[in-house]
Amino acid sequence: MKGIVLAGGSGTRMYPLTKSISKQLLGVYDKPAIYYPLSILMLADVREIALIVNPHEREAFQELLGDGQQYGVSFEYLVQEQPRGIADAYNVSEDFLEGSSSMMILGDNFFYGYELPKRIRLAKEKNIGATVFAMQVKNPQRFGVLDIKSPDQVPVGIYEKPQNPPSNWAVTGLYIFDGNAPKYTKNFKPSDRGELEITDLISQYLKENKLAVEYLGRGTAWLDTGTPDGMLGCATFVKTVEERQGFKIACLEEIACRRDLISTTKMLEQVNNYPDCPYKDYILDVLEGGL
Ligand code: TTP
Repeated sequence: MKGIVLAGGSGTRMYPLTKSISKQLLGVYDKPAIYYPLSILMLADVREIALIVNPHEREAFQELLGDGQQYGVSFEYLVQEQPRGIADAYNVSEDFLEGSSSMMILGDNFFYGYELPKRIRLAKEKNIGATVFAMQVKNPQRFGVLDIKSPDQVPVGIYEKPQNPPSNWAVTGLYIFDGNAPKYTKNFKPSDRGELEITDLISQYLKENKLAVEYLGRGTAWLDTGTPDGMLGCATFVKTVEERQGFKIACLEEIACRRDLISTTKMLEQVNNYPDCPYKDYILDVLEGGL
């Protein structure tokens, strides 16, 4: 399974912060925002990852993340010429995917929770057309929302930003699709708000009875860094958890070693070249302490 981080977009809600830089490159507490969704794909053991970026931001992403070798994975950079919508990710990445299934995550999404990586890895093994991860939210009008039939929680519909939401279960920005996704999105037309909608792609799988839903419980944090308040809230969350536990959230070097993507010896060699800073000290501490 290949991975996609969708990290383009207009970033209108964060203007002027986003006038000269992608919101996904802005800092969320002690690391760039893109580290958080990337960490989820790495924790899910997805090794071939495409980052979809805006044309003028490609160089900056490449400067930050390189080819991924330093984390034992591979990064490719694909340019989305215009922010045509989330489903457009599958038009942009068709050649990269070469018919493979994929796990896609939005570049401004943040997930954190006990055993969440294991849950995502298990979902990945399911041999079904598409899987979405749903969370309950206070204001479902702002999200893609599932209509669910009780008592078995079977999804029967999905609606983008509905005025009268059929439930409070929002579809989060983490998706798994089989290799057919680009075949569908190719024929999509922009919605009333001018975007190729991810809910249309999910609906397609629902119609074919090939949609699985992973219902994430209240113990999972799902936040987004796409507004000033969202970004501040997320930064505060990361700071609070990190300070209390002494473990960092989304330290890519640590994850690469823990998931055996790269040897600890090799990582130590690399990290020794980092400038002296608390981030380096942390990595040296966890790696030298033994994983
Ligand atoms: P959004 O936050 O829905 O859109 P946006 O980034 O354009 O921001 P704003 O609404 O403030 O103008 O996007 C969700 C994620 O998907 C975000 O990480 C950016 C990414 N994205 C793309 O890469 N390409 C796109 O065409 C769109 C719409 C979003």
